[in-house]
Amino acid sequence: MDNIFWKQNIETILDYIGEGIQVIDAKGCIQYYNRSSEELDDIRKRETIGKHVLEIYPSLSPQTSTLLNAIEKGLRTYNMQQTYINYKGKKITTVNSSFPIRVKDKIVGAIEISRNITDVKELSEKVVDLQEQLLDKRKNNGQKENKDGAKYTFYDIIGESKSMLKTKKLAEKASQSSSPILIYGETGTGKELFVHAIHNRSQRRKSPFIAQNCGALPATLLESILFGTVKGSFTGADNRAGLFELANGGTLFLDEINSMPLELQVKLLRVLQDGNIRRVGDIKTRQVDVRIVAASNEDPLVAVENKRLRRDLYYRLNVVGLRLPRLKERDGDISLLVGFFIDKFNKELDKRVKGVSVPVLNLFEKYDWLGNVRELEHVIEGVMNLMDGDRITIEDLPYIFDKMKEEDTDTHDVKDKVKVKTIAVAPLKESIENFERDMIEYAMDELNDNISHTAKRLQIPRQTLQYKIKKYRIGKPGAEN
Ligand SMILES: Nc1ncnc2c1ncn2[C@@H]1O[C@H](COP(=O)(O)OP(=O)(O)OP(=O)(O)O)[C@@H](O)[C@H]1O
Ligand SMILES: [Mg+2]
Repeated sequence: MDNIFWKQNIETILDYIGEGIQVIDAKGCIQYYNRSSEELDDIRKRETIGKHVLEIYPSLSPQTSTLLNAIEKGLRTYNMQQTYINYKGKKITTVNSSFPIRVKDKIVGAIEISRNITDVKELSEKVVDLQEQLLDKRKNNGQKENKDGAKYTFYDIIGESKSMLKTKKLAEKASQSSSPILIYGETGTGKELFVHAIHNRSQRRKSPFIAQNCGALPATLLESILFGTVKGSFTGADNRAGLFELANGGTLFLDEINSMPLELQVKLLRVLQDGNIRRVGDIKTRQVDVRIVAASNEDPLVAVENKRLRRDLYYRLNVVGLRLPRLKERDGDISLLVGFFIDKFNKELDKRVKGVSVPVLNLFEKYDWLGNVRELEHVIEGVMNLMDGDRITIEDLPYIFDKMKEEDTDTHDVKDKVKVKTIAVAPLKESIENFERDMIEYAMDELNDNISHTAKRLQIPRQTLQYKIKKYRIGKPGAEN
């Protein structure tokens, strides 16, 4: 294929990608400008070709233009955030990478690739501002509890398996200190729940709890969100406190720490070492007292090996290391969680589902649950939305289980009477009554609704049993499937 063919097609391709692409020659004049650049700068391609960069970007200077730095000093920049006023006077924030183009060791031009993050930046700043307003409001109202921040407590973490009990115990102990914690668990294993519970059990529970996801944001933007900015630090910055300052006295949850850009990990390490933060562009440092809890959905050691997590930061964060087991590894927890979610969705969907059948439970025990507890929760919610009976049976399960159903030929023969129920904190009288009702219901199920046998097994008079059956409205419909 000839050169003209390639030139035309490559230009078409470059016009369809989301990033702005510009090429300048050795004099700093624009030679190529794709469609995304046009949208970003609100200027037509034909108006740019041949013009000097500073003519198109009057708010930049030879010192601040990364393209000019590339041709003049051979500098490469990678993912640098830049805020500028475009040709039409609109403030735009981009993340740019630029590098010189060399032919036989001579710089003949430079290329810049820009991603528009104006909306992301505005949104993130809005979130930080709202967090601040919320904290202020709470302070002004004399509201001590931090319920909007960290919702869950250890009572909300369902799980009695050996591995869960051990992890919960460690986490409870860890909540008493201010050392950094690194929680590792695959997606849906309950990392967020644990972080909330730790904060709520700690002495910091009345102070702010702030969470920030470290993936998906460019390093410079995340840096200004975490540490704050001072006016003029780079064009377009305001005086703004970062999350470290807002979380002062409390807990800062850094989620997906393994996705935090490496250059920012260095800065985080420094804060962890001396407790001082420096707003972007500021000369002075500020002392903060913040407990850091970080989470990773990838084995931190693997992240270290693959250079996604700095080894020094790993050691600093992993002062307390918690590993949350996969659901599949949690012996006996599936039935507890099934009961818990059935209760939850009975309330939310106004249903009266009593439990799942034995074959369903067997199938659940064999299933891989790659999405862990979250996946189980969604399966139960989905099934309860659509089912008619009062017990979840194999037929109610969604298609993802079809293959397993076929493999499991004897699932339909097993008698269907499993009951699952779990413990949640509630007034004692109500809890005892609930337990009594469940026990009677379960016993009636077991003994085929025979009153005398059930009364005998429960060691209560027949009349008492009859009275309680009436009181709790324990009915026959649905008792056997
Ligand atoms: N032990 C548990 N008891 C009750 N609910 C749980 C438990 N673990 C997880 N859940 C529920 O599962 C869902 C996912 O939990 P969570 O958000 O804490 O997972 P995660 O580990 O942070 O996942 P991701 O890595 O995807 O962010 C939530 O709805 C949570 O309420
Ligand atoms: Mg999470």
